Amino acid sequence: RIGAMRAGGYALALRGDRVARLLHRPWRLDPYPVYAQLRAAQLARGPVRSGTGLTAVATHASVEAVLRDRRLGVRLSDGRSRLSQGDAPSLMEPVDLSLLTVDPPDHTRLRRLAQPAFAPRRLAHYRAVAEQVTTELLDRALARRGPFDLVADLASPLPIRVISALLDVPDVDAERFARWGLALGSSLDGVRSPAHVRELTRATDGMRALFGQLLEQRRAHPGEDVISTLAGAVDGGTATADEVLALAQLLLVAGFETTTNLIGNAVQAMHRTPGQWTALAADPSLAAAAVEETLRYDSPVQLTARFAHEDVEVGDLRLCRDSGVLVLLASANRDPAVHADPDRFDLHREQAAPHLAFSGGAHYCLGAPLARLEGEVALRLLAERMPRLRPAGSPVPRVATVLRGPLQLPVTA
Ligand code: HEM
Repeated sequence: RIGAMRAGGYALALRGDRVARLLHRPWRLDPYPVYAQLRAAQLARGPVRSGTGLTAVATHASVEAVLRDRRLGVRLSDGRSRLSQGDAPSLMEPVDLSLLTVDPPDHTRLRRLAQPAFAPRRLAHYRAVAEQVTTELLDRALARRGPFDLVADLASPLPIRVISALLDVPDVDAERFARWGLALGSSLDGVRSPAHVRELTRATDGMRALFGQLLEQRRAHPGEDVISTLAGAVDGGTATADEVLALAQLLLVAGFETTTNLIGNAVQAMHRTPGQWTALAADPSLAAAAVEETLRYDSPVQLTARFAHEDVEVGDLRLCRDSGVLVLLASANRDPAVHADPDRFDLHREQAAPHLAFSGGAHYCLGAPLARLEGEVALRLLAERMPRLRPAGSPVPRVATVLRGPLQLPVTA
């Protein structure tokens, strides 16, 4: 049985073995017991290798070491994409995920272009946007005086509105923009069918048209937004039009469902662990701690992948040139070697080692400060405005391998 998985922008084919179990529905609903087995197996015999030669690293030490090692990258050693090898159909990669799919020096050059979008002054602006949008969304939910869906009514619209501010996308396009974000976000987990490919193609075509227009506009009237920076880079010859379109697309995809999952996972974890929501409601200044603990305990991005650019040994991992390694971020975050009682959600946890939910090394999440800010604002205002928030029905889980978080989370204030 073969499953196709996209991790870090790559589709990987796996055959029925322990690693591939993660692809099966019951394990995708709760992958943590599988991670525990993979960690134990790694400690006993070294990293588990799948039938297709893909190896999984599961311990905190090995995940961190692989992410930091410059001899591994997101492309093959000769710069080709993994998919151009012909071992997976080309329809697997209809979305160009920019930074996530390039190695230095292109990666360094392109990452520098997006960096100004996350400067402290810009972040202060996004905080104001996040607070205003969250207040509006909570007003609307409270006005309903009954159960509401935490995902549809808060966790999903908030990041899309903040990213629209980041890219300075006009309000008139916001709804289409949200639809494209949902479609493209779904591609992070692999492409399911030709119909899914058509949906993705429609979304990317629409986004290219919109960003193409915005680039033209900002070229004529530059502002402080990232699209203006990108338009300048094309004019100055530091990037091609295709590269900046892909980068703008990545900013939409990378910051949307990841943040939705963070907020959903946080509320879910606090509701499921006795005393945790009431602790936050009693002291909403714990919101930032709740964000960190959620990133560790139920990571919105569970895994990524790397390829060896030469024969390498990284700790207990041995890889031949061009072979792939599945990097289980969420497993590292539950490793008892660094996190005491790792399967317990604890707002007051002193994190002994930083979690790896934002990855590490060259591809460390560029949007981490923004994700933290949005999560903190959402949870703090939720706790202030709805201190008695409680579940109001069964959540609908996302059945996915890379992204993790509820699709629907019914709650009541
Ligand atoms: C990369 C997680 C929110 C922008 C990454 C990676 C992870 C990650 C794990 C690296 C993947 C790899 O190493 O292969 C998350 C999580 C988020 C979040 C868990 C929310 C809780 C955001 C936001 C933005 C963003 C809000 C911006 C709007 C990016 C970008 C990259 C990235 C641009 C590519 C960096 C590179 O390849 O150099 N993110 N992310 N992310 N993220 Fe985030």
